[in-house]
Formats: sequence, structure tokens, C-alpha cells
Amino acid sequence: MLTVDLRSDPTRFADSEALYLEVRRAEGRVLSPEALRKLPVVAADDPHDREWQTRAGTAARLIGYLRGRQPHPHILDLGCGPGWMTARLVRELDATAVGIDCNRSELERGAEAFGAVEGLELIYGDIFEPVVEENSFDAVIVASVLQYFSDPQTLLNRLLDLVKPGGEILLADTPLYRCEEIPDAAERTLNYYTKLGFPQMADHYHHHALDDLSAFSPEIIYDPRAVLSRIGRSVFRRPFSPFPILRISRPENP
Ligand SMILES: C[S@@+](CC[C@H](N)C(=O)[O-])C[C@H]1O[C@@H](n2cnc3c(N)ncnc32)[C@H](O)[C@@H]1O
Repeated sequence: MLTVDLRSDPTRFADSEALYLEVRRAEGRVLSPEALRKLPVVAADDPHDREWQTRAGTAARLIGYLRGRQPHPHILDLGCGPGWMTARLVRELDATAVGIDCNRSELERGAEAFGAVEGLELIYGDIFEPVVEENSFDAVIVASVLQYFSDPQTLLNRLLDLVKPGGEILLADTPLYRCEEIPDAAERTLNYYTKLGFPQMADHYHHHALDDLSAFSPEIIYDPRAVLSRIGRSVFRRPFSPFPILRISRPENP
């Protein structure tokens, strides 16, 4: 049986956890264990059907990329939520993976859904606390997560300490703006959460620019604006993620 390993104080994030869950419920994003096991495939009448199709594309791209890197990688999935992608990475790559999140109830639902997945570990913890071993992961996945951190540089430096020399961080499914676009994006976010009834959620959602990451020399491994991506979109007539996948690597010999 898979249990959630508590490595941070479980009361620390209680307020933000409760708010996040209320928001997810209001958005229709809290899924049963059966539905979680089917992700990224959702029912045709799921309100987020199109978004899940783009997430399926991201998962497939990450898996294809990591498959070409090395056999049986050891992966950290930061902000794994209920761990659908973490479980998928383990299965498809014959990998071992740690999903970490500071939302206990998301992790508990994940443990219920993915208890049969060998090689999967779920940790409740704050990534900035010593909850996982440094220099120990081949890759850290940051999927739909960067927007929940106010300071991406501090986060990326922390994650670089967690990957092995020669390892990498993969950022996906996060909007990255041009600096001048950020005020409008922040206003749209506030309007969205206000309409949903939770304006305070906007304080937990941050808008970052690609330029904010330039000190880490990110390499774009999927560019939604590239000609091939655009051709793929029109040939397959499926929604593709509008967000890039970026790779930030830790040098073998610093
Ligand atoms: C939108 S969810 C992403 C879920 C998942 N990665 C996916 O692809 O569906 C963002 C997650 O980041 C988690 N998170 C935010 N700050 C964190 C922190 N300091 N340490 C660990 N997890 C964090 C949140 O609790 C939330 O579950």
C-alpha cells in the first residue's frame, strides 16, 4: 500500500491547502481515484477536456525526451498534486519517482489512486526544506507549477542542488510572458479568481517572464511557436500546449 510520507509540518500549509482545494472544487478539478487513474484522458463532457488534451501532449513529449536520455531514471516531480504524471513517468519509463507536494489531501487521493505503481513515492513537504536528498535525481519535472512560486530563481537554484551533476530540470505547462505582458496577465488572473469567488487565490498565482530565467540558460526542447509544432497542430487537429518545455541542466563538472 502506498502511503504519503509526511516530511514537513502538516499544519504549515493548512490555510493555503484548504483554499486551493476549494478553488479546485469550484473549477471541477477534483477527480475520483478512478478518474485520476485514467488521466490525462477525461470524459468527453469534462469541462477541462481541451486542457487535458494539451497536458497529454506534454506528458508524451516529456516521456519521449526522457526515454532518449537514459534507462530507469530517478525523477522528482515537484508539485505533483495527486501524482497522475508521476505515476505515468514511472510506468512508461520503468523509472523510480518521488512526487512531492505541500497539499496533503491531493497526495492522499494520489496514494489511493496509484497505490499499485511500484517505484512511486509520495512525499508531503516543502521543497525548500530538507525533505529529499540533494544530488540524487536525474531529472526534476516542474509541470504546471512554476506559477505557484513567487521567486523562480530561488526555486531553480534549490532544484539544481537536488539533481545529480549532469542532471536536469524540465519546466512545462507554465505560461511565460514578455515582461510588458505581465500586468495584463495579472489582471486577467485576478478577474478569473474573483469571478470564481476566490479573489485571494490571485495572491498565490505568480506571473513570470522567460527573461526571469535567463541566468539559467534554458534550452527550449518544445517550442509551440515553431513551424513544426504549428504544422503538427493543423495536421492532428488536436490542441497542443501553448507553453514551451524548457530544460535547465546542471553541468557535469561545474
Ligand atoms: C497546478 S498543481 C500541478 C499538479 C501537477 N504537477 C500536474 O501536472 O497536474 C501545482 C502544485 O504545486 C504545489 N506546490 C506549491 N508550492 C509548493 C512547495 N513549496 N512545495 C511543494 N509543492 C508545492 C501545490 O500544492 C499544487 O499541488
